[in-house]
Order: sequence, then structure tokens, then C-alpha cells
Amino acid sequence: MEPHPGHGAETRPSVAVVDTGPLLASGRDADVFEYGPGRVLRRYRRGGDTAHEADVMRHVAAHGFPVPTVVAAGGPDLVLERLDGPTAWHALRDGLVEPESVGAQLADLHRRLHAVPARTSPTPGRVVVHLDLHPDNVLLTTRGPVVVDWRNADDGSADVDVALSALILAQVALDTRHPLAPSVRPCLTAFLERTGQPPASALTAAAAFRAADPAVTPDERARIDRATDLVAGS
Ligand SMILES: Nc1ncnc2c1ncn2[C@@H]1O[C@H](COP(=O)(O)OP(=O)(O)O)[C@@H](O)[C@H]1O
Ligand SMILES: [Mg+2]
Repeated sequence: MEPHPGHGAETRPSVAVVDTGPLLASGRDADVFEYGPGRVLRRYRRGGDTAHEADVMRHVAAHGFPVPTVVAAGGPDLVLERLDGPTAWHALRDGLVEPESVGAQLADLHRRLHAVPARTSPTPGRVVVHLDLHPDNVLLTTRGPVVVDWRNADDGSADVDVALSALILAQVALDTRHPLAPSVRPCLTAFLERTGQPPASALTAAAAFRAADPAVTPDERARIDRATDLVAGS
């Protein structure tokens, strides 16, 4: 499984036909702007093509998985339903939710996502995977948790998807400068209690995927081995 060309890829014409409103949020790759009533424009800062992720989002939505409705996709732009509510990270930071419930919710989202059949070929054991399912990509809305940021999503192995989320949580737990590090440990424990320990082969594949992700910082890359050990020993 290779990351999809989110950045560095040739930029196709944008889908924006009217000026964007104010910036609402920025992730590592994309800016999210107000874009008319009930909508946002999500735009990759370094170009790219959102066609693939829009297809995956529509596929999982058709199977009842909670994603923002895709209104339009073109070049680096996605026009999406605007979600209300904080990300699970922000809710954790602000003491609105307990770490254990965030971990349990993340595990539940994995279970629901991996019940969605593969989009391209009905190969046994292949399901839809997100490959970046962490609390900053979950919005706690009035209709329940909703998952954003489908750049890495594809058909793949559920075990690798689980291993990757565990690894991301472990990397934060090991980051002594991260204000949420102490709360992320119980979150990881609660997550793994529900998902079960991912097989070693899935953890190895997840670590390789993470190391190859251009959005991962050098500091984070340096912690991948220790994070792998933390997950394996949890
Ligand atoms: N449909 C949406 N409605 C409201 N806020 C959103 C929506 N999609 C994303 N966001 C906000 O924008 C942030 C960045 O979006 P995301 O898709 O995760 O981009 P990145 O790939 O840069 O992380 C999210 O963490 C969330 O706070
Ligand atoms: Mg994100």
C-alpha cells in the first residue's frame, strides 16, 4: 500500500467557483475554509488530486459509514458538508471527553469501517481502510463521530489500519513535549483492549507505511521504532 499522491502531484484546476470564506482549520496537508451555508472547501496546500478520496468517501457513505457528504471534487479541492463540533483531540485537550472513551470510539470506528466491502475487487480479507484514523481526524458532531481526511484511504488490510492508528497514538504518547502525551496512553490502552493486539506483520507494515509518509516529521520518524515497541508491549 503506497500513499496516494496527495502532494507533489500535478495540480488540476480547482473546483472553487466563488471566493472562499474565512479559514476554519488547517491540517498538515490541507486548509479548510467556510464555503457558503453548510459547506466547507478543503484545499491541499501543495496541490494534488482529490478524485480518489472523494470516490472512497462516497463508497463508505453509501455503506452507512459517517463521513461529510462530498459535494464536489476537483484538483486539490473538495467541497464538503460542514461538520459541527470539535475534533476528538480538541475535546480531549479541553477535558470534554475521557481518554478511554476516545480510544474506545476509535476502535468502534475501525470495526464499522472494516465492515465496508472493498471498493475495487471483492478479495477475501480486503476491506476499506483509512490509514490515518486518529483523534484529529474525528469530529464529534451532533450526529455522532464523523471521520475526515481520506487521503490515504484505499482497499487494504484491517489489521494494518488498526496497527497504524495504534502507532500514531503511541508516537504521541512518547512525545515528552506533546501536551496530550499523558492522556494518550490510556487512550491507546482502551483502543487496543477493543481491537486486540495487531499481528506483528501488520505492525511492521504500518511502521514502514508511516516512515514513508512525507507528512511525518523527522522527530516523529525517529520515534517509530519505540512506538512499535510500545504498541507490541501494550
Ligand atoms: N467537513 C468539515 N467540516 C468542518 N471541519 C472540517 C471538515 N473537514 C475537516 N475539517 C477540519 O479541518 C482540519 C483539517 O482537515 P483534514 O481533512 O484533516 O486535513 P489534513 O490532511 O491537512 O489533516 C480537521 O482536523 C478538522 O478540524
Ligand atoms: Mg487531518
